[in-house]
Amino acid sequence: MKIGEFAIENKTTIDTIRHYMNLSLVTPDKKGSFYEFDESCQNDYNSVIALKQIGFSLAEIQTLIIFERIGRHTGYSRRETYRAFFENKMNWIDKELERLQDMKSKLQSTVDSMPDKSICNQDKAGVPLNVLPLLYCSECQSSYVLSEGHIENGGIISGELQCACSETLQIEDGILFGKGFLDPESCADFDDSFVEDYVQTTHIDYLKNLHLSLQWARNNYHFPKSENGVILELGSGRGFFLRNMIDMFPKQSIYIAVDYNPNAHKWLKKSLADVVGEKRILYLCCDFRRIPLKPKTIDTLVDATGSSNYAFDNSDFLLDSLIPLLKEDAILHGQYLVFKNFALNTMIPDTSRKWFKKNELKSHIQNLGFKQLKEHETSPISEGGPKESFFVKGEKIYNYLYIGRLNLKP
Ligand SMILES: C[S@@+](CC[C@H](N)C(=O)[O-])C[C@H]1O[C@@H](n2cnc3c(N)ncnc32)[C@H](O)[C@@H]1O
Repeated sequence: MKIGEFAIENKTTIDTIRHYMNLSLVTPDKKGSFYEFDESCQNDYNSVIALKQIGFSLAEIQTLIIFERIGRHTGYSRRETYRAFFENKMNWIDKELERLQDMKSKLQSTVDSMPDKSICNQDKAGVPLNVLPLLYCSECQSSYVLSEGHIENGGIISGELQCACSETLQIEDGILFGKGFLDPESCADFDDSFVEDYVQTTHIDYLKNLHLSLQWARNNYHFPKSENGVILELGSGRGFFLRNMIDMFPKQSIYIAVDYNPNAHKWLKKSLADVVGEKRILYLCCDFRRIPLKPKTIDTLVDATGSSNYAFDNSDFLLDSLIPLLKEDAILHGQYLVFKNFALNTMIPDTSRKWFKKNELKSHIQNLGFKQLKEHETSPISEGGPKESFFVKGEKIYNYLYIGRLNLKP
């Protein structure tokens, strides 16, 4: 029979049969321009499959079959040849079993040393009580007071906050819900395999830029040392920034993670449960434009692509409306998505394109009153991934990192 028929007969591909022929595992005769597969080819093929099933590699099978073929000619005992090969293989398997057993014991001790899920404090972390004086209703310009609530270990797990005009904010599972958050049913969900999936589906160049930006941030960012210093992050999302920086925040500081996606907050809170320690984090679920904080509260504003994300759907620059919340000498740690070029079918609306151009962005930040302390940019890249699909073929983007200090003191 011909190669195609032989492959079908053996439920394999023509490429596999060709590969076996190249290794001389199956040696059909050539008739004209075609190979002819006969019973002896079938027997050779069966031997290859049987040997593969008991753990031999194709290279080993090749040696074995050649030995056997030569042995047949020279009169060596077939049985003895196989016996030597099989014994070698069994010795190798014994060593592998020992190695795997050792690996398994090491894994078991690592698992044993991990904290038990049931004693994780993830559900115990609540809204830190000392953030209450920072909360503020911009309608009636009054503070919020806790009208009812369940408090554990200095954190409000659930409850309701009320201001003078009777506006209320809810606390559920330690997350503070303000105004303008998204319906959890309509926004992206995050599960335990989120980071793994993200790494597997995002282009390596994009991941490299993310890593280099975080590394630069670790080497150059400084956080408030003052008692109760307030850091606010715009769009904590998947928490790449927070998870990479959390050990750098002074213990007495308050970190306010703002995002309007409740699922992102739930996931982030859970994923940080073991590393938070004594750090005080407020998970604030609300729209960027409705952050319920007193004026002049924030010492450090982290804008790790929060403004860029906002600019996908809005033509104004996010920081414009947030300046009143910043202390007069607040620090801005910004990471912005910058386009080298826009394709004809770009996804960035014409009205907000200026927020994706370095020079316009930089001069706007300067006009808001920031004095640049440092800046950095990563290399341009042209591919993202399913979660970073905001640029199209032909466009190149990079991260522009900026550190500046507000200088509003009279
Ligand atoms: C690209 S992510 C930021 C990544 C994050 N800084 C990190 O390090 O992982 C942007 C986040 O901003 C949030 N966001 C976008 N527009 C918003 C708005 N108007 N109000 C609140 N959050 C918003 C999105 O839900 C998203 O999680």
